[in-house]
Amino acid sequence: MTMRLSLLLAATCAFLVKTSLAVFADEAWTKDYHYALLGEPSDAALFHQPNPSSRASLIYTVSEEGVLGAVNPRDGSLVWRQILHSGDPHGKTAGFLRAGEGQDVVVSGLGSQVAAWSAADGRQAWHVELGSPLADVEILDWVDAAGTPGPKDALAITTGNKAAVSRLDGATGSTKWQYELDTTDEPYQVSISATQVYAILLHKTMMGYIKLKVISLDPVSGHKTDEYILSSENELSTADTIISVGANSASPIIAWTDSAYSVLKINVIGTKTVSTFNIEKHDEHAVTSIKLHAPYHVNSLSHFLVQYNTDVSHRAEVFHVDPKKGKVEKAYSLPNVAGMGSFSTSTADANVYFTRITRDQVMTVSSVSHGVLGRWTVDSFNVAADKDERVEPVRSVSEVSIKGDSVSAVRSAVLLSTGDWILLRDGTPVWQRPEMLASALSAGFAAPMEAEMLVHELEEEAHSSPLQAYIHRITRHVQDLQRLPTILPTLPQRIVAGFLGTSADGVMANDGFGFHQVIACATKNGRLVALDAGNPSKIMWNHPVADLKTGQEWQPSISSPKGGVLELKSKAGAGVQYNATTGEQLVSILPIDVEADTAAKPVKYSVSGNGLEAQMDGNPAWSFMSAQGERIVSLVPRPVNDPVASIGKVLGDRRVLYKYLDPNLALVATVKDASKTATFYVINSVTGGVLHSSTHARVDLSASISAMVSENWFAYSFTAEASDEGPKGHQLVVGELFESLVPNDRGPLAATANYSSLETTTEPFTLTQSYQIPEPISKMAVTRTRQGITSRQLLAILPDSNAVVGLPYTVLDPRRPVNRDPTKDELAEGLVRYAPVIEFNPQWYLNHQREVTGIKEIVTSPALIESTSLIFAYGLDVFGTRVSPSFSFDVLGGDFNKFQMLGTVAALAVATFVVAPLVARKQVNTRWQFL
Ligand SMILES: *[C@@H]1O[C@H](CO)[C@@H](O)[C@H](O)[C@H]1NC(C)=O
Ligand SMILES: *[C@@H]1O[C@H](CO)[C@@H](O)[C@H](O)[C@H]1NC(C)=O
Repeated sequence: MTMRLSLLLAATCAFLVKTSLAVFADEAWTKDYHYALLGEPSDAALFHQPNPSSRASLIYTVSEEGVLGAVNPRDGSLVWRQILHSGDPHGKTAGFLRAGEGQDVVVSGLGSQVAAWSAADGRQAWHVELGSPLADVEILDWVDAAGTPGPKDALAITTGNKAAVSRLDGATGSTKWQYELDTTDEPYQVSISATQVYAILLHKTMMGYIKLKVISLDPVSGHKTDEYILSSENELSTADTIISVGANSASPIIAWTDSAYSVLKINVIGTKTVSTFNIEKHDEHAVTSIKLHAPYHVNSLSHFLVQYNTDVSHRAEVFHVDPKKGKVEKAYSLPNVAGMGSFSTSTADANVYFTRITRDQVMTVSSVSHGVLGRWTVDSFNVAADKDERVEPVRSVSEVSIKGDSVSAVRSAVLLSTGDWILLRDGTPVWQRPEMLASALSAGFAAPMEAEMLVHELEEEAHSSPLQAYIHRITRHVQDLQRLPTILPTLPQRIVAGFLGTSADGVMANDGFGFHQVIACATKNGRLVALDAGNPSKIMWNHPVADLKTGQEWQPSISSPKGGVLELKSKAGAGVQYNATTGEQLVSILPIDVEADTAAKPVKYSVSGNGLEAQMDGNPAWSFMSAQGERIVSLVPRPVNDPVASIGKVLGDRRVLYKYLDPNLALVATVKDASKTATFYVINSVTGGVLHSSTHARVDLSASISAMVSENWFAYSFTAEASDEGPKGHQLVVGELFESLVPNDRGPLAATANYSSLETTTEPFTLTQSYQIPEPISKMAVTRTRQGITSRQLLAILPDSNAVVGLPYTVLDPRRPVNRDPTKDELAEGLVRYAPVIEFNPQWYLNHQREVTGIKEIVTSPALIESTSLIFAYGLDVFGTRVSPSFSFDVLGGDFNKFQMLGTVAALAVATFVVAPLVARKQVNTRWQFL
C-alpha cells in the first residue's frame, strides 16, 4: 500500500521537476524581433554572381541610406552589408555600385571614397580616399593588351578642387594614373569604349548655358588624346535634362533633352554627330521625365531603351547604335501603359533584354525586336497599402533565364511606391523587405482601444470603495456575457491556445497582457507605417501621409492621445489623428503642412547659441542663458507619461527617503569648445531654475553626449580625453534628487503641503556617482511600466558594438556604498558596494547575438501588466522586444506547461481517491487499537 503511494508521488514529482528547469530562456528569440535593413535601394542595384564558377547570384545594392549590401534572391535574407560613410552630413550624395563581369568583387563609391568588397562575404579588399566628391565610378571592363589576370581596374572621376580622372588598380586600389581636370568645368561622368576612356564635363558658356565637353584619354597611360565641345545649341540650361547613360559599351552614348521634353538628342561619344529625335505626344499629358536603360558591358550589343514618363502613363523606345558609322537609329517602340512602370536591362552573352514591370504585368523583350519573349500577370504585389492607393513599381533590376528563343524565367527585385522592396519571380511575389522602415524619422506606440478600455475599467475598480468595486466588477462581467454569442464559436481555438500557452501571442482584440500595441513609424518618404508589437512579422498598414517633393524633408512626431488613436504632428503644429488599428484618418484639423517644416518654428523650447528659451502658449515663459562660449548640445525633458508609484524610497530599516519629484525636470547639456568642457544642468523647465549642475573637463567633444531624465533621477554619458590622471574613457554619471538626505524628513517642502511648481524655491539634495563604461552610449531611454512600481532600466544604444543594453537601476544607484561593504540594511535594499567600472553583463544585451545596426532612437511603452515594458528601437535597423526589469512577477512564463499542471492535479486527484479509503481505514484501525 505504501509502495503504491510513493509510486504516485514519484510520478507527480517527475511532472513538476521538468518545468522548473528553464526560466524564460526560451523567450529570448520569440518575444523580440529584428529587421536587418538596407534602406530603399537606389538606382545602383544589380544581380551578380559572387562566385564566377557558380550560377547562383545575389542582389547587390547601395541604398539611399548609404548602406551597401547583398541579399539572397531566394528568400530576401541579408547576406552581408557595410555602412558606407559619405562624409556628407545630409547624406544626399548618391552611391555608385559596379561589378565587372566574372569578377568576385563589387566596387562601391560614396562621398569621396572608392572601395572594393568581396562579393561573397562583404570583406573589404581595399579602399581609397580621393579627397574630393565622386561624380562617377566605372570598371574597365575589358582585358588590357597585356591580358593581366585578376580583378579589373576601376575608374573614378572626382569634382571639386581635386577634379581628376583616376585609374585604380583592381587588386590594391593604388592609383595607376591620374589625369587632372581643369576646375572651371564641372566633371559629370566617365565612360569607357573598347579603346578609350572619356571624361564628360559640363562647360558653362558666357550665356549661362551648358555645353558638353568630352576629353578622351588613353586607358593605359592616362594621356589626353583628344578634346572637343559638342554643339548642344543652347538647349541645355541645366544638368537636370541630361539623361544618364550606360557608361560601358562598345559605343557609349550621352543623351539629353530640352526643358520641355520635346526633342531627344543622342551623341555616340567619340564622334561629333548629334542625332535628334522628336518626342511625340501620345495624349494631352506632357512627358515629365526621361530615363535611359543600357547594358553595362563592353561586349554587349549597343542597344538602349529610353523610357518616357507622364503623370499618368509611361512608354518606351528602343534604339540601336551602328558603331561603324556612329549613327543612332530608332528600332521599335513599346506601347503606352497607364501608371508608372519600371524597366531593367539584363544581358546574356552579347544579347540584351529589357524587362518591363507595370502595375499588373511583367514582360521581357529582346533588344533586337519587339516580339515578347515572356509575359506574366501580377495579381498583387502583396504589400500593405492604402485601400485606394495604387501600388506602383518605381525601379527594378532583373535576371532573365533564356531557353532557346524564349525567356523561361525572370526574377526582378522591385522597389515599390510603398517603400517595400520585393522580389517577383515570373510575376509572383516571393518576398518583401520593408525598407522604408530604415528611414523612420519618428516612432510611437498606441495601445489598441480594447486594451485601453479594460485598463480604464480596472482603474475605476481600484479607486472606488470595495463594495462599489464589487458591483462594478459584476456589471462588467454581465456586460462581458453579452459578448458570449460572438466568443462561443471561437472557444475551441481559445481553449487549445490556452492549453498550449500561446494566448499571449494571440490577436490584438483579446490581448490581456497589452503586448499587442501598434507601433507607427513616420518615414522619410512621407509615409506612416504600422507594426503590431506582438506580431511584428507583418506590416499592419502603410499610408502616404505627406506629399513630399523630391529632396524635401519633414520632421514628424508621433504620439497617442488616447487608446486606439495615433496623432501625427509635423513641426508646423496641428496634428492629424489616425485610427491605430486601421490607419484611417480620423479628424483632420489641418493637412500636414510640410512647407512649414522647412522654416524652423519654435516649438516649446528654442535653442539659440548659448541660450534656451521656453514658450508656453506662444508666449515666452523664461530663458536660460548658459555661460559665455557654451553651446547647448541637448535638452531632455522628463517623459510626459512617467508614473511614479511611491514618493519615497523605503530603506532597509523601513525608514523612507523622500524623492524630489517634479514633473518639469529637464536636463540640459552644454559644451564649451575652447576649454573642452561639458556642463550638465538639471533644470525646472517651467521656471527655468537650475536645480543641479556639474562640469566635466577634458571632454572629447567629437564623441556623442547622451542624457536621460526619469522620476527623480537622471543619467548622462560622455567621453573623457586621455590625461595625466587617466586614459581616455567613457563615463556614465547617474544622479538622484531627494527632498532631504535625512530619512523620514521631507525637508523644507514639508510645510507647504500643496506647492505649485511655479512657486517652489526649494532645491533638492542631489547624490551623483560616476562610472567608467567600456564603450560610448549614443542615446539613452528608460523603461516604462503602467504604474511605475517595477524598477526601471536605463536603455542605452551602443553604436560601437551595434547593441542595445538595459542597465538595471541597482547597478547605477548613486547610493551604492563607497569604499566599504554595504550594511545589513543596505543589503536588504539591494545596494552593492560601489565599483568605479561597470562592465556590461552579457545578460543586459537586449539584442542577444544579433547586430542591430544604425539605431538612432528608442521608444518605450508600458504593457497592460505592470511587470513589462515594450521597447522599439529604430534608425536603420528596426528592433523591438519587451523587458521585465523586476522579472515577470505577474505572468506565467512561456515554459509554464498547462498540460503538466493539469496532469499533476489529475494525478493528485487520483491519489486522493485511491489513498482516502486507506487513510480512513487506518484511522478507524488506530482508534480501535486505543479502545
Ligand atoms: C478603428 O477601426 C476599427 C475597425 O474599423 C473600429 O472598430 C474602431 O472603433 C476604430 N477606432 C476608432 C478610435 O475610431
Ligand atoms: C492648499 O491649497 C488650498 C486651495 O488653494 C488652500 O485653501 C490651502 O490653504 C492650501 N494649504 C496650504 C497648507 O497652503
